[in-house]
Amino acid sequence: MNRYIINEIIRNRKTVYPTQFLDKEIPVNIINEILENAIHAPTHKMTQPWFFVVYKGDSKNVLLEIFNKLDKDKYSKIKIDKFMEKIKLSDTIISVFMNRDQENRIPEWEEVAAVSMAIQNIWLSCYVNNIGSYWSTSPMKDEYAKYANQKKNLRSLGFFFMGSYKHTKSTKVRESVNKKVKWV
Ligand SMILES: Cc1cc2nc3c(=O)[nH]c(=O)nc-3n(C[C@H](O)[C@H](O)[C@H](O)COP(=O)(O)O)c2cc1C
Repeated sequence: MNRYIINEIIRNRKTVYPTQFLDKEIPVNIINEILENAIHAPTHKMTQPWFFVVYKGDSKNVLLEIFNKLDKDKYSKIKIDKFMEKIKLSDTIISVFMNRDQENRIPEWEEVAAVSMAIQNIWLSCYVNNIGSYWSTSPMKDEYAKYANQKKNLRSLGFFFMGSYKHTKSTKVRESVNKKVKWV
């Protein structure tokens, strides 16, 4: 194990938007490997509250059809069109759901936290595979979820847009760690 590897992966993972994606297909086996990493996230009481719906290739049309049906009074047509453009520019879109434990044994926020950790695994795995990606939590996700899934306990936590990308340095800098930590 070399600790510099994990430092580099964590510190270089960045948000990459669909307009930055390259026109190069992501192999299906890489997507499966990334999803396998996702499900290794920690989870309280092993509830494993994640569920992923993958749209890739022709099945992106299924997602586009759903967005076409969204209420144009509730969400502006411009917003919907912009979202649909992102779908078209992406190679793969992973729709992320939280499938809450049926017995509600643990607080909901812990289930959201577990799914968020799975998303971080996806995000880091994308980086090492030269895949640009970003997590969109648009309010449209809630109405999308009604069309996409009828299962009662499934709650959309948004979309993960993915496309090939050659890493470039991000300009987004963090505040100094000293400002965020207090040693006692
Ligand atoms: C819970 C969560 C929700 C996010 N939702 C959005 C979103 O809806 N739209 C967006 O452009 N970015 C979204 N992001 C990405 C953040 O904007 C991004 O992570 C932040 O600007 C830091 O940039 P970096 O990821 O390149 O380090 C979200 C990130 C998190 C953690």
